[in-house]
Parts: sequence; C-alpha cells; structure tokens
Amino acid sequence: MIGGMGVTIKTAAKDRPLGVFDSGAGGVSVLRWIRQQLPRENLIYISDAGYAPYGNRSSHYVQGRATCVTQFLLDQGAKAVVVACNTATVTSIATLRSKFAVPFIGIEPGVKPALAETASGVVGVLATTETLKSPAFHNLIHRFGKGVRVEVQGCPGLMEQVEALAFSTPKTRDLMDRYLFPLLEKGADTIVLGCTHYPFLAPLIREMAGEGIRIIDTGEAVSRQVCRALTTRDLLTGRTEPGAVTFWTSGSRGVQTVLSCLWGEPVTVAQMP
Ligand code: DGL
Repeated sequence: MIGGMGVTIKTAAKDRPLGVFDSGAGGVSVLRWIRQQLPRENLIYISDAGYAPYGNRSSHYVQGRATCVTQFLLDQGAKAVVVACNTATVTSIATLRSKFAVPFIGIEPGVKPALAETASGVVGVLATTETLKSPAFHNLIHRFGKGVRVEVQGCPGLMEQVEALAFSTPKTRDLMDRYLFPLLEKGADTIVLGCTHYPFLAPLIREMAGEGIRIIDTGEAVSRQVCRALTTRDLLTGRTEPGAVTFWTSGSRGVQTVLSCLWGEPVTVAQMP
C-alpha cells in the first residue's frame, strides 16, 4: 500500500487476509463459520473448480493443485491458509507445511466428535474415495476409532450434485440412497460429513435418515481452530470494521452462480490467471 508523499506503508502481517480454498464451492460450508467467528478478517476464498473434483484424483494431483492454489493465496498476501477440503487436507497439508512458512489449518472427517455422539457404537463416514484411501484418514480411525465401529462410504458424484445446486433432485436422492442406506443398515446412528460439500446436503440426509440420526459437520470446530491459530500467533486483525470477502476461481463463469447461492448473497468471482 502506498501512503502519502511517496512513502510505502506495508500492511501489518495481522491485517493481511486469511486464505481459504477447496476444490469447489464446498469450502463455503467452512467459510460461513469463519466469517461468523472472525467478522473483521478479510477473507479470500478460492474455488479450484477448473481442476475439480479432487476426490477421485491421485494424491500427487491434489498436492500439485493445493501447492498452486496456496502460492496464489500467498501472492495475494494471505497470512494463513485454511484448507477447507478434507481431501486436500489428508493428502496435502503435510506437503504444504513443508513448502510454505505460513500457518495452515485443515479439516478432517469428524471421527472424534462422532465418538461422543454415537449410542449404537457404529459411526458412518461419508467422504471422497481419496480421503478414505489416505493414510491420514486411517491414522485418524486408529487414534480415535477405539471402542466404536467406523463404517465408511465413498461418494463419487455427490460433490458434483452440490456444484450443480441439485440439493434434492431425483439423481441426488438416488445417489444418497446408495451411499447413506448401507451405513444405516450397518447400524450407524451418527453420520460424519467427511467432505465440505456435504453440509449442503444435510437437510436431505436428515430427511432420508430420520430425526434420530446425528450428523457431524466439523466446519464450526475448524473456525474455532482458525481463531486459536491466529490468536496464538498474534495474527488476529487489529481492524474494527467488518472485513471483506473476495472470491476467486479457476473454473468457469457459472461458478459465480454457485458461490452466490451457497454464500447466500450475490458475489463477484474473479478469474484466477
Ligand atoms: N470438498 C472436498 C472435500 O472436503 C472434496 C470434493 C472433491 O473435490 O471431490 O473433500
């Protein structure tokens, strides 16, 4: 930023924006909690829709995209990065931390909170196939899955339904039928939303599974973690006015409609170079 009389004023680290990204619009389910928790922060959201989905790609592919998107966020001045994507977190957050010096906050399927909720002792996890295959997810079950049975279900095609804003169409219902009922039949009474797109399908899950089923969405917990991470590093903004939220995408113009719908108000989405 240029001040008066040709003096260059550098934006203090704490007043720089917070970067958030996902393969698509799913990360908005995390962004809305961050916005609520930290209303004064400037937020930059990236939907990497031009390279989505991540969930059926190799971990090498996702690491490449996560690195590229992070570099773009840092070029925009991001002081920290929220990986608002389970697939990118489990496959890539270690790589990102080894490459970049800023703090990273990720999201993983909420196996641990599900333990506290289940009465049947069976927890069902809906996630992408890449998340379920990852060593990080297996490690998570190993650490927190003791004393319960964790049943998993990969959900190809489900994120695409959210990107199409098809929250309750026959095709979405058909897919949900195929993914949800096997978990319920195995006795799951707690369903973990292991992909940031799925909170937008929570009403459908609730309708199809019934009121007795608990649904675990870790978006709010992640926003608290973001707050803690910024606080301990003295990176919370000192501004007092509301922050701005800026959206970028590697995808097509249609992403603007999707992000506006999921964010709940019309937004302008800039094109990543
Ligand atoms: N939203 C992403 C997640 O949390 C994945 C969607 C995808 O790209 O397959 O895993």
